[in-house]
Amino acid sequence: MKILVKIGELFDASRLIPIESAHVSGVSYKTLGEAPTDFLEALANTGEKIKVEATLNPQSLDPKHLATRLPKHLIEMQLKLCGIFEKLGFKKSFTCTPYYIKEPRKGAHLAWAESSAVVYANSVLGAWTNREGGPSALAAAIIGKTPDCGIHRAENRKPKVVAEVKASLENEIDYGALGIFLGKILEDKIPLIKGLKNPSPEDLKQLGAALASAGMVNMFHYKDRIKTEERLEKIIVEPKDIKETVAELTTTRTQKTDLVFVGCPHCSLREIKKIANAISNQKVRDDIEFWICTSRLVKEKAKAYVRKIEASGAKILTDTCAVVTWTDKLGIKTIMTNSAKTAHYAPTLNKAETILASLKECLKTALKE
Ligand code: F3S
Repeated sequence: MKILVKIGELFDASRLIPIESAHVSGVSYKTLGEAPTDFLEALANTGEKIKVEATLNPQSLDPKHLATRLPKHLIEMQLKLCGIFEKLGFKKSFTCTPYYIKEPRKGAHLAWAESSAVVYANSVLGAWTNREGGPSALAAAIIGKTPDCGIHRAENRKPKVVAEVKASLENEIDYGALGIFLGKILEDKIPLIKGLKNPSPEDLKQLGAALASAGMVNMFHYKDRIKTEERLEKIIVEPKDIKETVAELTTTRTQKTDLVFVGCPHCSLREIKKIANAISNQKVRDDIEFWICTSRLVKEKAKAYVRKIEASGAKILTDTCAVVTWTDKLGIKTIMTNSAKTAHYAPTLNKAETILASLKECLKTALKE
C-alpha cells in the first residue's frame, strides 16, 4: 500500500482505483538478480497473496529445452524465484502476451508491467493501464488497486503528435522498425499514427513492442477517425526512415546465424499456425537453433501445429524468450529475429550480434534447402 500511495502522490492521483488484472514483470533471474529476489522472498514470507487476477512475465527457463543446459546456480536461483511467485499466489503463466490468456475488457483499468503488453492493451484492446514496474504491478496485484493517474485518466490519452507514415509497410519488421523510429523521437508523447494500411493485430503487436523499447510511449492511436487538433506537431515517416532503421537493427557483417528466434512478443495461435504451414515437411539445418517462443496456453491450444514444427527440429519454447535467458552461456553469438524489439535489445542484453529479417527470411535461413 505504501508503494501505491507514494506513486500516487508523485503523479498527483487523488485516489486508488480498482483493477481488473495485474501483470507482473521482473520474473527472469537474469534481469532481476539477487537483491530483488530477497525483497520478493521477504514479501512472500509475510503470507500475503495476490487478490486479483494476475499473470507473470517470462522467466529465464523453458522446462523442456533449456532447464538442463544452463549453469546449475542460475537454474537453482530461477527455480527459487518461481517458487516465491507461487507462494504469492501466482499461476505459472510466464508470458509477455497475457492478452492471449484472457483479453481484458475494453475500458477496464489494469496494472500491467511489460511495456509491449501495456502498449497493446491500451492501443489495440482499448484497456487502460500505465506502464508499471515489477514492484508496483505486484503491489497492485496484492491490493487490487492502482493510483488514478497517467493514462488511467481520459485527458492524458489524447494524441500529442501526428505521425504520417508515407512508407508502405510490407511485413512485421517494417512495423517494428516504425516503432523503433518513432520511439526514439516521441519521448513520452502519444502519437496518432496515420497511413497504416489494414495492419494485422500481430503487426500492431510488433509496432507497439518496438515503440515501447526505444522510448517511453505507452500507447498509440492508429484509426484515422480520431479527431485531432490542427495544431498538433507532425512527424513525416519517409520510406528511407524505415529502410535505414531496419538496416541499423542488423549489427553483424558475417550474416552467419547461430540462433533464429521468432516469438517476441510471444506468438499468437495464428502465428504458430502460419509457421507450421510454412515449414511443411522441411528440416532445420544442423548448425542452427530455431526457437519459437509462446505461452504454455497457446502451445497447448496449438498441439497439432507444435507436433509439425517440432518434427522439423525447431523448438517451441514456453515460459521464456531469447532476451530473458542467457543465450551467451549457450554459445550463441548471432541472433536472427523478426522482432525489432529483440534486435534492439540483444546487442546489450545478450551480448549478441543481430540480424533483423522477416519471418520468411528467418525460415529460409533456419531450414535446409
Ligand atoms: Fe516478450 Fe521476451 Fe520480447 S519477454 S516482449 S519475448 S523480449
